[in-house]
Amino acid sequence: MADLIATNAMPGNSNWREAIEPLTEQERTEIEHLASHYPRPQAATIEALKVVQANDGWVSDGKLKAIADQLDMSPDEVDSVATFYNKIYRKPVGKRVVTICDSVSCWIMGYDELRQKLCDHLGIPLGGTTTDGEITLLPTPCLGACDRAPTAMIGEKLEGPITADELIAQVEKARGGQS
Ligand code: FES
Repeated sequence: MADLIATNAMPGNSNWREAIEPLTEQERTEIEHLASHYPRPQAATIEALKVVQANDGWVSDGKLKAIADQLDMSPDEVDSVATFYNKIYRKPVGKRVVTICDSVSCWIMGYDELRQKLCDHLGIPLGGTTTDGEITLLPTPCLGACDRAPTAMIGEKLEGPITADELIAQVEKARGGQS
């Protein structure tokens, strides 16, 4: 999901700090507090990314570099954590994120139909955001609920087993702010 970050963030380029997008005072304080719970500040990387995402809705390259600077890491190290954790968004997303599980159980139980019908309904490909900025649609690896395949998540709410028509109805409900 995440893009590679800009080349000026690569190891050996000492100028990457020039592209930092400063954290807010509140973000810096919050991250400092979280890092104080660990022997090494680097252990708070995921939490620091979540702090920024909670404020901005996603994590820009500039903010990622600011986190790296605060936690005494390289941008690449922070980016590899962000990439591994699929709930950290490295591009702007819509107000609500819908994810469809594309791992094996869900794939066998109807992933293709869920994806195709929802993409057609929303008029966007997987990875896209609706023109009204309401919904971003993303794939996700196994959600740990294979017995409920096929599964999807609307925000933090797990749905499954679910049909394509039921998923469309739930997404429209969320879009209207009813869940
Ligand atoms: S494969 Fe989809 S929840 Fe496990």
